[in-house]
Amino acid sequence: MKRAAILLLTLTLLTPTARADEDTREPAPRTASERTFILGEMRKFLASVQAITADLATGDTRAAATEAAARGRRVNAVLAKPPGLDTKETAAWKSMMGGARKGFDSLADTINADASTPGVLTVFADTMSNCVACHQSYRLTAEAQ
Ligand code: HEC
Repeated sequence: MKRAAILLLTLTLLTPTARADEDTREPAPRTASERTFILGEMRKFLASVQAITADLATGDTRAAATEAAARGRRVNAVLAKPPGLDTKETAAWKSMMGGARKGFDSLADTINADASTPGVLTVFADTMSNCVACHQSYRLTAEAQ
């Protein structure tokens, strides 16, 4: 019994647990220009989220749909990314980014089809779950150029 308690204590002490001040997100090494590119796209995401919300609140559905489409995959399929960036993206990264882009296309389509439906907010929330998931998973770190 005593031995079991000691074993349990040892295991507890050896098991790595995240300290409160520890950043447990996976590092995503990117060069300075890649980080500038990524964070620029991120700020566009956030600005569009604000604009779409404001447009929906005032009933300007045309503007909301246009703004959503601007962040979607259809428009950004030909987005000029820094060369080599693609190969650094993990499958999980690509999946969450794809989910966000496709989500904005669905949001535009849903708003265009019938902006009054609660479905608009459901699609909006689903789209944004990709932002939340990726932010909980990754942090950008400096990679030598
Ligand atoms: C595939 C991953 C991914 C997705 C999807 C994603 N982000 Fe990010 N975002 C990041 C990472 C990584 C950072 C940098 C976080 C860090 O290093 O601490 C970031 C940073 C940001 C920043 C800070 C920008 C700055 O200038 O510092 C904003 C704002 C942001 N994201 C908004 C969004 C919004 C809104 C969405 C969804 C519509 C979104 N992001 C989707 C990965 C993602």
